[in-house]
Amino acid sequence: MEGFKTKYVKDDLGAIMKQEKTIIKIRNLQRYYKTGQVTVKALNGVSFEIKKGEFIAIMGASGSGKTTLLRILGLIDKPTKGEYTINNLNVVDLPEEERNCYRLTQLGYVFQDYALINEMSASENVYILSLMEGRSKKESLITAKEALGKVGLGDKLDRIPDHLSGGEKQRVAVARAIAKKPKILFADEPCANLDTRTSEQVLEVLKTLNKKFGQTIVMVTHEPWHTKYVSRVIELNDGLVIKDKKLRGLIKDKKSAPKKSSFRKRSKT
Ligand SMILES: Nc1ncnc2c1ncn2[C@@H]1O[C@H](COP(=O)(O)OP(=O)(O)OP(=O)(O)O)[C@@H](O)[C@H]1O
Ligand SMILES: [Mg+2]
Repeated sequence: MEGFKTKYVKDDLGAIMKQEKTIIKIRNLQRYYKTGQVTVKALNGVSFEIKKGEFIAIMGASGSGKTTLLRILGLIDKPTKGEYTINNLNVVDLPEEERNCYRLTQLGYVFQDYALINEMSASENVYILSLMEGRSKKESLITAKEALGKVGLGDKLDRIPDHLSGGEKQRVAVARAIAKKPKILFADEPCANLDTRTSEQVLEVLKTLNKKFGQTIVMVTHEPWHTKYVSRVIELNDGLVIKDKKLRGLIKDKKSAPKKSSFRKRSKT
């Protein structure tokens, strides 16, 4: 394990500082789910590259494969077939322990269903991950408070998830992922339960992380107005990329905003 850390994680940190670098490369990624006799082809051959510092929106109708793709990119799940490298490291074939180490130290993930620990307060939910990464208690507490403050929950540090609204739980999940300042942040619909104002607040936090600290962000969203925060949009349909578009800079006018989504769910076939 120490060998792995020295060889890959350390090299990786050095390499990652270089600009204009391809950080993620996927080739012909496939993920099939088998339930009984039925096989669902959730990803059916997805290929693309992501450069360091990109802020990407993954879009597409419900069931198009967004979460499946993000879970594989976030090293939570493995593809049925296909290649996936981060900084030229083949992360698909890494032994379990090394994959977990890589995920914990290098990647951040906001889950679509929050995945918070019910018995712990908001700050403990954020703090515990920081501790697991080997930071001191003092540093972890400061980091947790700072991250929760950024998403507007500075006054609800001691609340357990059951005593928070859906949107507040979602923001705790965002705080937990950003607190560790990961090299790559994956966020699965981080604004799904938030009103427009709070969504803007969370998107601004992500934009700052991206602009100021060059963090690479891959965010799943259904909302077309969210694309004004990102530099590229990848759209999926039936497990395939049907659009991959770079956007020229960010739209500065925040007022031309939201209300309705034309991307909302389609019925599953
Ligand atoms: N664990 C699973 N077992 C079987 N089928 C699954 C599983 N997870 C996802 N699927 C199927 O794979 C397809 C892609 O699902 P996925 O969750 O990636 O879609 P999504 O684009 O994230 O949808 P949504 O916008 O509703 O979150 C769907 O048809 C879904 O029913
Ligand atoms: Mg999903």
